[in-house]
Amino acid sequence: MKQQLEQIRATALEALERAQNEQEIDALRVRFLGKKGELTAILKQMGGLSPEQRPVVGQLANEVRADIEAAIERALSARKEQALAERLQKETVDITMPGKVCQIGGLHPVNLVLEDLIDVFQSMGFDVVDGPEVETEYYNFTALNVPADHPARDMQDTFFLGKDLLLRSQTSCAQIRTMETRKPPIRVICPGRVFRADEVDATHSPVFHQCEGLVVDKGITMCDLKGVLEQFAHEIYGPDTKVRFRPSFFPFTEPSVEVDVSCAACGGKGCRVCKDAGWIEILGAGMVHPNVLRYCGIDPEVYSGFAFGIGLDRLATTRYKISDIRLLFENDLRFLSQF
Ligand code: DAH
Repeated sequence: MKQQLEQIRATALEALERAQNEQEIDALRVRFLGKKGELTAILKQMGGLSPEQRPVVGQLANEVRADIEAAIERALSARKEQALAERLQKETVDITMPGKVCQIGGLHPVNLVLEDLIDVFQSMGFDVVDGPEVETEYYNFTALNVPADHPARDMQDTFFLGKDLLLRSQTSCAQIRTMETRKPPIRVICPGRVFRADEVDATHSPVFHQCEGLVVDKGITMCDLKGVLEQFAHEIYGPDTKVRFRPSFFPFTEPSVEVDVSCAACGGKGCRVCKDAGWIEILGAGMVHPNVLRYCGIDPEVYSGFAFGIGLDRLATTRYKISDIRLLFENDLRFLSQF
């Protein structure tokens, strides 16, 4: 019987060595350790042994069972390791393969010039503020000293949204909102979209972009306005750019000016970009009207200020030599991807 047990152990261990997969290992478990297995068959015969032999054979049988069980475990884990190694082998990533090229977007030309503009004004100590696109008549007109019968209030120019609500036709509303919430000294710019009921053509769009600027403090003069705008023009258009003030009229400034810069494309000689004028008009500006200061509770006897409104679309079209303003709003990727 001892011999039989040794024989079973030897056969089982050898077979398990050679087992190729989990099914084979399982079949061997059944064959040796199962209810009708070879080891069980031997154990059933133990009843015929003498009391002295029984414990000896019993102990050996237990050892054989333990050895076979251990061999099964070993075979199983070897099999698992092998399977894992095969899978890793199959799934290796070739890190030398070229990557997938993903398309990255770019900034819109108006945002590109706006970013530069914000840099320039921030370096001069201006804060950037935001204002609502839906405004009331008070902020868009009344507090800006636009009289009730001024043609700019006409339904033709302004998109009214109902009684007293409108789409702002200028970023100048930001002046009022700023002076209501801040005390002088004030130095802010407010970029944003504005809306006017204009016919669409190469130079007009019902939605366009402005950047408002406002400075209020004691002793602010037209010289400060000129200095700030010259600095801005030099940074945006180049150090040789000349700035020209022309007298103009805006209800919210007195005196008012329109400001031209010398054409960067031709240096002032006249070309297609400046329509042979040598100059390009880029903004309106002036000294804040005393009435506007009063509307905001600021004493015009103590404080003075200047304001300006820059047309951002004009800045973008002249910088990038874009001949038609509509291109800025059509979102044609063939156009936008050039910037
Ligand atoms: N709001 C004016 C416009 O839309 C531009 C402007 C002119 C803004 C003079 C100002 C200013 O702040 O002082 O045409």
